[in-house]
Amino acid sequence: MADHYFSADPESSAKTQSIDFNVRGRHYTLLASTGVFSAGRLDPGTAVLLKKSDLPGPEIAGPLLDLGCGYGPIAVVLADHAPNAEVWAVDVNSRARELAERNTNGRKVKVSAPHLVPAEIEFEQIWSNPPIRIGKQELHELLLLWLPRLKADGVAWLVVAKHLGSDSLQKWLIEQGWPTEKHASGSGYRVLKVSRGQAS
Ligand SMILES: C[S@@+](CC[C@H](N)C(=O)[O-])C[C@H]1O[C@@H](n2cnc3c(N)ncnc32)[C@H](O)[C@@H]1O
Repeated sequence: MADHYFSADPESSAKTQSIDFNVRGRHYTLLASTGVFSAGRLDPGTAVLLKKSDLPGPEIAGPLLDLGCGYGPIAVVLADHAPNAEVWAVDVNSRARELAERNTNGRKVKVSAPHLVPAEIEFEQIWSNPPIRIGKQELHELLLLWLPRLKADGVAWLVVAKHLGSDSLQKWLIEQGWPTEKHASGSGYRVLKVSRGQAS
């Protein structure tokens, strides 16, 4: 069967490639590879998220979560902007985790399989370019697994393409008791800001 970017152990040979991008005046060169999401360039949705959301600063104690970290672009940027916070970067794809480990080397980042994140950890912020392609039901289950792990005043930042259902995801989150606002848009993507509601 062909690999998906969310395969647990991609079977295709790993062809690595450097990805260069700038976020808020800083230049990054990270290593990506076939078998992981957006191996050829910084994903445009991730670029919108990192450009238009309120990145945490040094005052943020964390912990922070990069849910579905891929080769690690979000985790790397979070760790640089919030050097006092521990960042957890999780992915089901083992090749993505290996790359994220390498790309975050020297930063305060723990790369982990999702099920190995200690159950008692509550996150100050969750960041994600979520895996829409796993299917609607699975995506909903994934969000309902991790959003309850936000601290009481925690927020989640999500980026979703409009044509892949950002508006319906926002509506669904609100229906589930997670107040969600459209924080920004760009290049066909929406940045959603999710907070804890009364019911969540
Ligand atoms: C849209 S990609 C984003 C990757 C990376 N954050 C980026 O911006 O390039 C979503 C990621 O979620 C991962 N993923 C899929 N299912 C997951 C799950 N159940 N738990 C954690 N990560 C998952 C995929 O392997 C993929 O790397």
